[in-house]
Amino acid sequence: MNWRIPLSDIDFDEDELAAVQKVIKSRWLTMGHVTKEFEESFASYIKVKHAIAVTNATAALHLACLALGLGPGDEVIVPSLTFVATANAVRYVGATPVFADIVSDSDLNISTHAISSLITPRTRAIIVVHYAGYPCDMEAILSLARQHGLFVIEDAAHAVGSELKGRSLGAWGDIGCFSFFSNKNMTTGEGGMMTTDNDELAQKLNRLRSHGMTSLTWDRHKGHAWSYDVVDLGYNYRIDEIRAAIGLVQLAKVERNNERRRSLSQTYRDAMQELAPQVDIPFQHHGGKTSAHILPILLPREKKREEFIAYMKEQGIQTSIHYPPIHTFTSFRDGGAWELPLTEDVASREVTLPLYPAMSDDEVATVVTAVRAGLNSH
Ligand SMILES: Cc1ncc(COP(=O)(O)O)c(C=O)c1O
Repeated sequence: MNWRIPLSDIDFDEDELAAVQKVIKSRWLTMGHVTKEFEESFASYIKVKHAIAVTNATAALHLACLALGLGPGDEVIVPSLTFVATANAVRYVGATPVFADIVSDSDLNISTHAISSLITPRTRAIIVVHYAGYPCDMEAILSLARQHGLFVIEDAAHAVGSELKGRSLGAWGDIGCFSFFSNKNMTTGEGGMMTTDNDELAQKLNRLRSHGMTSLTWDRHKGHAWSYDVVDLGYNYRIDEIRAAIGLVQLAKVERNNERRRSLSQTYRDAMQELAPQVDIPFQHHGGKTSAHILPILLPREKKREEFIAYMKEQGIQTSIHYPPIHTFTSFRDGGAWELPLTEDVASREVTLPLYPAMSDDEVATVVTAVRAGLNSH
């Protein structure tokens, strides 16, 4: 379908093309010095000691669970209002995801209070998701985690460039996991990054992404090593030089693009003020600096969402929903009788509107006009 206004769009130009060409001309495509440069630049941007690139954020979350030693019998508290990857990572290592409710219909992040009520002697970790790049209450969550001896993994898939109290999201917990999927604030097509300040965890994560091997093809190519040992059950979750090169160019653009996303989000908020209280826009008030990854709105409870989405589609405007809650999926249904009233309410009303750096203020106005009309359509 040819959308008049798509949900998201990439910001690629001659610089990404040139970076890819340079790698191809170098004749070295698998993980090497470009990946190292990407990791070092990312670590310096997030202000952490280590950044380790992987194939995608799902792999990052999987390795984060593995590196922290999570396994069968362990419970990991996660939100349900997130992409399924957050909970799947827990299941990959044989641990059990325990779903916590969100704060409210104006803060769609995991609730500290809900986390606290779900802690049992089997709880080992919490995975927080910074929904749309708006920060979770990290101080309260970390304090609770410390009290109970729990690990904290940040699913920062939405949150590259977000900050809380001047500290980057992804740098608060034990391990941060980022996504460079094509709709994210910076993209390599598919790609991900793990961040940590812990040297031992970094070494583990590094090995686990490449079969648990002690040396890489690149080290052997450079003559730094001629053999290797295998010390863990690892995976092939390596990124490649082509994507790392694109990542470096995208990273250089992310601050500028996030600023544009924040500005467009504010334009949306201002233009939709007159639709309140019919339409709620979550995260009106939030702490910190957001990456403004997506623009979620909540429809009135009496409005049929399918009709609204169909109306927007007729206008050539692409929308989405974030998210069908994980605890309602067939594959997760036998996990328990979850009480998540806020998650279920928000998930049934949420619609995500178009947002991308090249979007114009006029296009925002067009979307808002369609939202207004869509609310009254039957
Ligand atoms: C919150 C969240 N977690 C994890 C992921 C998984 O990321 P990836 O597609 O890079 O594996 C996504 C991607 O959409 C996401 O939005």
